[in-house]
Amino acid sequence: MNTSLGGFGLGLRTDHYRDFLDTASAGPAVDWLEVISENYMLPGGAPLQHLDRIRRDYPMVMHGVSLSVGSTDALDPDYLRDLKALADRIEPAWISDHLCWTGVDHHNLHDLLPLPYTEAALRHLCERVSRVQDVLGRRLLLENVSSYVSFAADEMSEWEFVAELARRADCELLLDVNNVYVSSVNHGFDAQRYIDAMPRERVRQIHLAGHESHAGYLIDTHDHPVCDAVWQLYAYTTRRLGAVPAMIERDDHIPPLAELLAELDVARQVQALALRDARLEPRASEVAA
Ligand SMILES: [Fe+2]
Repeated sequence: MNTSLGGFGLGLRTDHYRDFLDTASAGPAVDWLEVISENYMLPGGAPLQHLDRIRRDYPMVMHGVSLSVGSTDALDPDYLRDLKALADRIEPAWISDHLCWTGVDHHNLHDLLPLPYTEAALRHLCERVSRVQDVLGRRLLLENVSSYVSFAADEMSEWEFVAELARRADCELLLDVNNVYVSSVNHGFDAQRYIDAMPRERVRQIHLAGHESHAGYLIDTHDHPVCDAVWQLYAYTTRRLGAVPAMIERDDHIPPLAELLAELDVARQVQALALRDARLEPRASEVAA
C-alpha cells in the first residue's frame, strides 16, 4: 500500500478518459488521480476496464459519496464489501468519504448533509468509523462538507468537532478548503480559525474547488474555477499545515483537461510561495523563546 503519495492530483472524469488513455503521448502531468469509488463498484463494464488501464500509469486515491457514516441507518455491509474489493483491485494510497449523512430510514436524499456538532454525534461517529476502518484494514479519510444550515443543538464549533473526531476515531482528514470558505461565508465564522484547529498530522489530502456566489450566501457547485479568496485560504492552509497533497475538484461544466492542468499549475505556484513564506515566518515557539 502506497501511503506516501505527494504532489498534485485531479479527479478522474469520463470527459478526460481519452487524455489519460492516449499512449502516444507522455500523459497528462498529474502526480495521482482521485476516482469516485461508486463509479467503479459494479463488476465488469467499460469504466472498470478504463480504470485498470489508467491505473497502470497513475497512482490513485478513492473518494466515496455513499458511506453515509453519520446516518442512524445501519452501515451497509454489501457497500463496504464492494468498497474493499475495489481497494484491493486498484490499491489506492488512501480512501475517503464525507463527514455527513445522506439519508435516513433507507431513503437516500442524494445530498451530503451536515451533522449536529454534539458529544452524542461524536460517539455515534467514532463507533461507525472504527467499524469501517476494521473492514478496510486501514484508516479512513473524512472530508468536511459545505453547509447552509446548522443545528440549534450544536454543542461545539465544526472545527472542534472535526479535530476531536479525527483524534478519537483515529481517522484522517480530507480538508476541502473551498468547503471551509463556503461555510465560513454562509455561517459567518472565521475560516482561518477553522484551519488553525486542524491537526497537521491527520490532514492527508486537500480539495480545491469553485462555487457559486449569491447575495449573502455561497453554493458549493464545483462548476467554476477556484476563486481568489479560496486561493488565499489555500496559501494560509499551506503555511499552517505544510505541503499536503492537493487537487482540483470539478464536477460540472467540465472543461478540456488542459484548462484543469493550468489551474493545477496555479495550485503548485500558490503552494510554493506559501511554503517559502512559511520558512520566513517565525514559529510561535520561536517568538515565545
Ligand atoms: Fe471536496
